[in-house]
Amino acid sequence: MTLDLDTPAPDAPECADDGVWLACIACGSTFAPFEDVRYTCDDCDGLLEARYATPPTFEDFGEGASADGPDRGVWRYREALPFDIGVTLPEGDTPLHTVPRLEADVGVETLRVKHEGMNPTGSFKDRGMTVGVRVAEELDVGALACASTGNTSAALAAYGGRADLETLVLLPAGKVAAGKIAQASLHDARILEVDGNFDACLDIVQELAARGEAYLLNSLNPFRLEGQKTIGFEILEAFHADHDTYPDRIVLPVGNAGNTAALYKAFRELVQSGALDVDDVPKLTGVQAEGAAPMVEAIEDGADEVRRWEDVETRATAIRIGNPVNAPKALPGIRNTGGTAVAVSDDEITDAQRALAAEGVGVEPASAASVAGLRKLRRQGVVDDDERVVCLTTGHLLKDPDAAYEAGNDPEPVENDVGAVLELLEN
Ligand SMILES: Cc1ncc(COP(=O)(O)O)c(C=O)c1O
Ligand SMILES: [Zn+2]
Repeated sequence: MTLDLDTPAPDAPECADDGVWLACIACGSTFAPFEDVRYTCDDCDGLLEARYATPPTFEDFGEGASADGPDRGVWRYREALPFDIGVTLPEGDTPLHTVPRLEADVGVETLRVKHEGMNPTGSFKDRGMTVGVRVAEELDVGALACASTGNTSAALAAYGGRADLETLVLLPAGKVAAGKIAQASLHDARILEVDGNFDACLDIVQELAARGEAYLLNSLNPFRLEGQKTIGFEILEAFHADHDTYPDRIVLPVGNAGNTAALYKAFRELVQSGALDVDDVPKLTGVQAEGAAPMVEAIEDGADEVRRWEDVETRATAIRIGNPVNAPKALPGIRNTGGTAVAVSDDEITDAQRALAAEGVGVEPASAASVAGLRKLRRQGVVDDDERVVCLTTGHLLKDPDAAYEAGNDPEPVENDVGAVLELLEN
């Protein structure tokens, strides 16, 4: 089995339920989608992905509407999803900002910023969670769980709470930004702080899920990626509406590589239906922090597998991940679209965070990695000056207030007196 861009649409196997099934990307085994709880392949433990008898065209998505509900955001893409509607807050339909000063500064023909921080809990995770929680309801599970660098826990707590399900989150102690813990806490998740990094948390929660303690909603769960796939649909639709063409390249931060896998899947499905030409598929370009860059290492080495980094560190705590579980889906995504991967320093990330903020786009550090990576690739001449680029910013500035204070201006104390204020302003 390969994840080529031009693989024809598959025939539905007998186990399909209403034209939807799960397939192993390693050995090709197929499974009924909603009969049992299953995260990986029974036969070889490979990653699973949802498959559809009828891949979507742009016409399937309709015109869109401003009302909440199935005509808005993620669920507008229901023809490409396993259900017609799920637990929704609602999510998706995020802005594709113009950033003229940054565009000129980076030196590309077009730069747009897809700001996923504008989702209900402030990150793209909501897109995956609305679908994942709908599947959890179908499977009739009682509790949900995830390991998280923060944003998944916030989304799981909010969507699980709305579905009236118990939620459990495992976080790396001391390494999760304040806003995210606040969200998980108020949305009533049970929060366990583990003395280990994210990858250790994921090992534990996978074991808990295998023992039937809870339904796993990390991006190892193939249905999470179905929701996140809609980022790709939205970018293509919105970019085409404004520019009458598709972006040459999409640059995104990489942690577990779920979005990289999900965007690639969106493009493959559109190619399968004939809606998108292979030559129009944007180059998927992944960015990691230097202290947590196993995907970059694999791309640079031409390796088929990613080496797990045991020690990872970066100020961009959302992507402080050493063992990207979706690598087998994401590596073909980067390679088959002609993309690449690049690592950036924490200082480059902070500079990019400031540059986005100067355009009014407030993002957390991990999100700014996309812009930092684009800048670096432009400097290296890997990205040409005539390219049309979309950078994905994955989480909102308020997720990590400490990083924002560090990167931004310090408040100046002043006496309660106009004269004192004027004097200060003159200096
Ligand atoms: C803000 C933010 N950006 C990027 C990522 C990484 O996304 P992915 O795991 O899809 O590579 C995460 C994941 O935790 C995140 O929270
Ligand atoms: Zn298999």
